[in-house]
Amino acid sequence: MTTEREQLIATVRQGFAARFGGEPAAIARAPGRVNLIGEHTDYSEGFCLPCAIDRETLVAWRPRDDGLVTTLACDQGGQVDRFNLADPIVPVSSHAWANYVRGTLAAMQADGIVLKGADLAIAGNVPLGAGLSSSAALETAVATALEQRLGVALEAGRKARFGQRAEHEFAGCQCGIMDQLTSAAGRAGHALLLDCRTLATQPIPLPGDVAVLVLHSRVQRGLVDSEYNLRREQCVQAAAALGLTMLRDADEAALQRLSGRVPELVWRRARHVVTENGRTLRAAEALRAGDLRGAGTLMRESHVSMRDDFDIVPPAVDELARLVNGVLAGEGGARMTGGGFGGCVVALARTGAVEAVREAVLRDYRAPSGEPALIWTCRASDGAGALT
Ligand code: GLA
Repeated sequence: MTTEREQLIATVRQGFAARFGGEPAAIARAPGRVNLIGEHTDYSEGFCLPCAIDRETLVAWRPRDDGLVTTLACDQGGQVDRFNLADPIVPVSSHAWANYVRGTLAAMQADGIVLKGADLAIAGNVPLGAGLSSSAALETAVATALEQRLGVALEAGRKARFGQRAEHEFAGCQCGIMDQLTSAAGRAGHALLLDCRTLATQPIPLPGDVAVLVLHSRVQRGLVDSEYNLRREQCVQAAAALGLTMLRDADEAALQRLSGRVPELVWRRARHVVTENGRTLRAAEALRAGDLRGAGTLMRESHVSMRDDFDIVPPAVDELARLVNGVLAGEGGARMTGGGFGGCVVALARTGAVEAVREAVLRDYRAPSGEPALIWTCRASDGAGALT
């Protein structure tokens, strides 16, 4: 039986051969991610606990000597983007995907890396628009391909910054560092406790009989960038009212002081971030101790905080999480994951409970569009590197 990875390798090799002729020099890969807990905390330099997943983007590449970068998107009807490294790298309006490639390369250049020409073919199986960081996987895979092309070794945190800068400057999303850092530094069988101030990553082993379930609500993530950027501004506003630059440095006592100094809505945003940082650290401890019930409780609390204080959980996604939590009955937990306003629910469950969750969700959940949820069991996977 052909595995999904084998299919993906075949797609990227065939695409490469059809467009550029012959074989690539090498293939780089980078995974998507799912966040277990610690949502909307990264851009306040807080904590999150994601894992890289076994859905990934591949970049097959071969050097060129003429300073051109030619990129083929195998999944986008074979669209091609091309630019000359002798000219400033600027965004294009023709293909949205191309800006992630261009933005990553521009960020590498701005950081002093002297780039060289290459032919790149890209293919991936991270679901698009589901909140599983398909764009971070693309950015990190491109940076990894260039790393190979130039024969250098980039530290995970530095590589992650390139993708983040691509989002900021070429895609218009003021995202944090979680997605790219997870894609760069993931560890098979582990979640990563990220300190988004120092970019330190601490692998936390996932208990052996625990499954990571991802359930796509099929609620389209509308207005994500504008609402996301607004949340970010509200966090900055709350920090400033406390005389801080980042909410990372606020605690429960600071929340009390903040009350009355900012509009109630901004205060609730701050409460989400402050309490979510605490929950994330406690969840890492619980998982390390094999305490699935403890981790599950924190995940449910996180969901409520995202819904009631951060206002990013649409009703259908809330219903999906409620359904899954009902089946798990405390032995694990479920919460919305990612930027919000739609997308996926993540659940930690005993492997023996996965089938019951699947049955209940397929039977009882429908998106507003009438579609059933999509359900994936994910394996916590290694971060970016060469395809071996
Ligand atoms: C998106 C962003 C991340 C992070 C999450 C919310 O995925 O890209 O940086 O802020 O939302 O936790």
